[in-house]
Order: sequence, then C-alpha cells, then structure tokens
Amino acid sequence: MSMQSQPASAKSGRRSFFKGAFAVVITGIAALVPSLAAFFVLTDPLRRAGESISSVRVTSLEALPNDGVPRKFPVLAPRTDAWNKYADAPIGAVYLRRTGERSVEALNVVCPHAGCFVDFSGERGQFICPCHNSSFKVDGSRAALTSPAARGLDSLEVEVRADGSVWVRFENFEAGRAEKIPVA
Ligand code: FES
Repeated sequence: MSMQSQPASAKSGRRSFFKGAFAVVITGIAALVPSLAAFFVLTDPLRRAGESISSVRVTSLEALPNDGVPRKFPVLAPRTDAWNKYADAPIGAVYLRRTGERSVEALNVVCPHAGCFVDFSGERGQFICPCHNSSFKVDGSRAALTSPAARGLDSLEVEVRADGSVWVRFENFEAGRAEKIPVA
C-alpha cells in the first residue's frame, strides 16, 4: 500500500460512514411518521374525553317537588375513552332545586375548596362539605365567612324544555380559587 493511498481510503471510509449514517436517519424519520400518526389516532378519544359536554338531560320536572329542597341527580352522558364507547357514563352530579312552576336551579355537587362532594342537610337547610366543614346556603352561596371554600357552590345553566325535561350544561370548575374558572 502506497503512502498516498491511505488518505484516499480514509476519505472513502468517511464517505461510506456518512452515507450509512444519513440512510439510518432517513429510515428513522420514515418509520417515525406513521408511528406518530398512529399515536394521535389512538389517543384522540382520550384527548376528546376532556372536552366540555354541552347540555345533558338530567331529569324531568315531575321529579322535582316544589318544596324548595334540592335533589341530587347523577349526570350521565355518552363518553368515549381510548377503546370503548359508553352510552350513559357518569360524568358528575348536580343538585337541582325547583324555584318556580317551570324554573330550576342547578349546582355542581363538588365543593370548590378541594373537590369533595357536598351533602344537603335538611335539618340545617344547608349544604355541608364533609371534608373541611364548608357550609353553603340552599342557593349555593357561602353560609359562613369562616368556610374554607373561597367561593360558593358552582351554579350551572339549566333549560326546562317544552316536554318538561330538565337539561343542564354540565361543567367542572377549578377548586381552591375564588373565581369560577372552567376546568380545561
Ligand atoms: S373540600 Fe369542602 S371544605 Fe374542603
């Protein structure tokens, strides 16, 4: 082997190395594109599960006596997770109170302090949170300034339709805040 042939073969070796490395990178990118597409297709239902639900039929006016006492109802809605579809999956719960012939108020059952479910005490005529004792009036406002919850219970939009069905625009809101901020 001559003294001049060594640098030439070294150059050729480097060229082969870079060609090989380039081919590996291109192959990797080509393999990654369908994998990313598959990832987004498979996880799309998971991402959609976090979207807010529009109005959900909760009950009918007949189930709400006009006695001013809130009644608790589950909120069921169609839901899709990564692999299954459910026609009526529980997505939360509300207290409904009839305030007139065809008017109803709705409150989310979740305590705005730290997210426990509140109970309605008929004896006290108030909502009580079992976790840290926040109390709320029947309209959802805070009953005591000493309550750890920084705001009242979260009211929700209600629609009473012509057939007497009661629909609620169900939403959850961030806990631990004085303002009502929808959960993204
Ligand atoms: S979670 Fe309700 S008072 Fe703390």
